[in-house]
Amino acid sequence: MELNLEEIREIMVRHLGKDLFRHSLGTAQTAYSLAERYGEEPERAYLAGMVHDYGKVYSSEALRRWARGLKLKLDQVTLAEPGLLHAPVGAALLPLELGLKDAGVLRAVAYHTTCRPGASLLERIVYLADYIEPGREFPGLGPVREAAEKNLRAALVMVVEQTIRRILDRGRLLHPRSVEFRNSLLRSKI
Ligand SMILES: [Fe+2]
Ligand SMILES: [Fe+2]
Repeated sequence: MELNLEEIREIMVRHLGKDLFRHSLGTAQTAYSLAERYGEEPERAYLAGMVHDYGKVYSSEALRRWARGLKLKLDQVTLAEPGLLHAPVGAALLPLELGLKDAGVLRAVAYHTTCRPGASLLERIVYLADYIEPGREFPGLGPVREAAEKNLRAALVMVVEQTIRRILDRGRLLHPRSVEFRNSLLRSKI
């Protein structure tokens, strides 16, 4: 049985709690309008935005337990960093717990923290929406939000570069996929 968007929203309200639900709703709505602007299916983008942080409610230990239990093939950086690990674990849990089957939506969830070279339009939209949704407030967001209105690639370059800088400033582990994604954007014209 496929759940409809309204049912999924109801489940997410309870699963995520108030703050994370508000962030997810903002991401869903932002993904919807980016999809309209750049030619993706808005409802699919909304759904992906709504569920992208499904794994974020779990502790690092629980995330690692899920990753082992579900036999996910993950690299050491992802396993060591809950800020990364919640993405693939969430993508693996969604088909089991919500019956979500859209492989494109699940990939957008799995890669929402780093994106990746060769990412689909949906993956890029969710990655950007997660960063610029209206609830976010940090320095440097204004120009990204402006760029997102007219040039998806330029906005993505800003997001990945700001993200990499922030990771370095905080002394966290940097995933090589972020660097690869950034380089792939610089080498592509669109
Ligand atoms: Fe996330
Ligand atoms: Fe998020």
